[in-house]
Amino acid sequence: MQPVYIVGAGPGDPDLITVKGRNLLIKADVIVYANSLIPDSMLQFCRSDAEIIPTASKSLEEILEIIVDRARSQKLVVRLHDGDPSLYGAIQEQIVSLVEAEIPFEIIPGVSAFQLAAARLQIELTVPELVQTIILTRISGRTQVPEREELSSLSAHQASLCLYLSAHHVENVQAKLIEHYPSDTTVAICYRLGWEDEKILTVPLSEMASTTIKENLTRTTLFVISPALNNLRSSTKERSQLYSSHYQRLFR
Ligand SMILES: C[S@@+](CC[C@H](N)C(=O)[O-])C[C@H]1O[C@@H](n2cnc3c(N)ncnc32)[C@H](O)[C@@H]1O
Repeated sequence: MQPVYIVGAGPGDPDLITVKGRNLLIKADVIVYANSLIPDSMLQFCRSDAEIIPTASKSLEEILEIIVDRARSQKLVVRLHDGDPSLYGAIQEQIVSLVEAEIPFEIIPGVSAFQLAAARLQIELTVPELVQTIILTRISGRTQVPEREELSSLSAHQASLCLYLSAHHVENVQAKLIEHYPSDTTVAICYRLGWEDEKILTVPLSEMASTTIKENLTRTTLFVISPALNNLRSSTKERSQLYSSHYQRLFR
C-alpha cells in the first residue's frame, strides 16, 4: 500500500512549500487540506481531476474517515497542513489512526510561521553572546499548556520567543511577558505572513496588546519577542564563530 503523505505547506506563500511537497501535490489523487490556513492558490499544482477536500468544517473523525477510506482504495492521499505539521498541527491523532488502520504514512516537513517571521524581520534568532535559544510556545486557550511550561516561567529565559495561537489572549500574554522582559523590548506582531494581506508591526512590549487589538490582528498572528530585535543596529560585534578565521571551515 502506498503511504499517506502528511505534507507541510508552509505559512501561506505557495512558493514556500518544499519541492518534495509540491511534487506530491502534482501527483496526488486526493488532497485533504485545512482551507482556513492554506490559500487556494496552493492548489494550482494539483491535477484537475484530483479530489480536493477542504476540512475547515469537518470534525477530526470525518477527516480521518476520508483519509483511511481513500488510502484503502489505493489512492495517493496528501494531507496538507499549514506551516510545519509537527507544530500545533494536531497530527498526533492522525498518526494514531493511521497506525491503528495499518496504513503507512510519511511526513514531509514545511516552513513554519516562525521561520518566515525571522526572514521577513531580517533577523537571526540565535545571535552569538546575545541569545542562543528559541522557544516556540503558546498561551493556554482551549488547549491547556502544562503548568511547567507556563509563559511566565519560559519568559524568564529571555530567549527568542515565538508565540503561536496566542493573539486572542494578548493582554494576558503581555502581562506575563512583562514580568521578565523589559517593557521596551521590541515585539514583532506578524499577521498572516505570506498572505496578500500580511502585516508586520514592531512595537515596544508595553504596546503589544493595545496595538494587536486596535489593528485587529487577532487571527493567524505570530508574536516574536527577542533580544535580537533590539540588537539589529549593533550586531557586528557578535560575529558568529562560524565565520571566525580561527574556526575550522567545515560547516560554512
Ligand atoms: C494551528 S497553528 C499551526 C502552526 C503551523 N503548523 C506552523 O508551523 O506555522 C496556527 C497558528 O500558527 C501561527 N501561524 C500560522 N501561519 C501563520 C502565518 N501565515 N502568519 C502568522 N502566523 C501564522 C499563528 O499563531 C496561528 O494562530
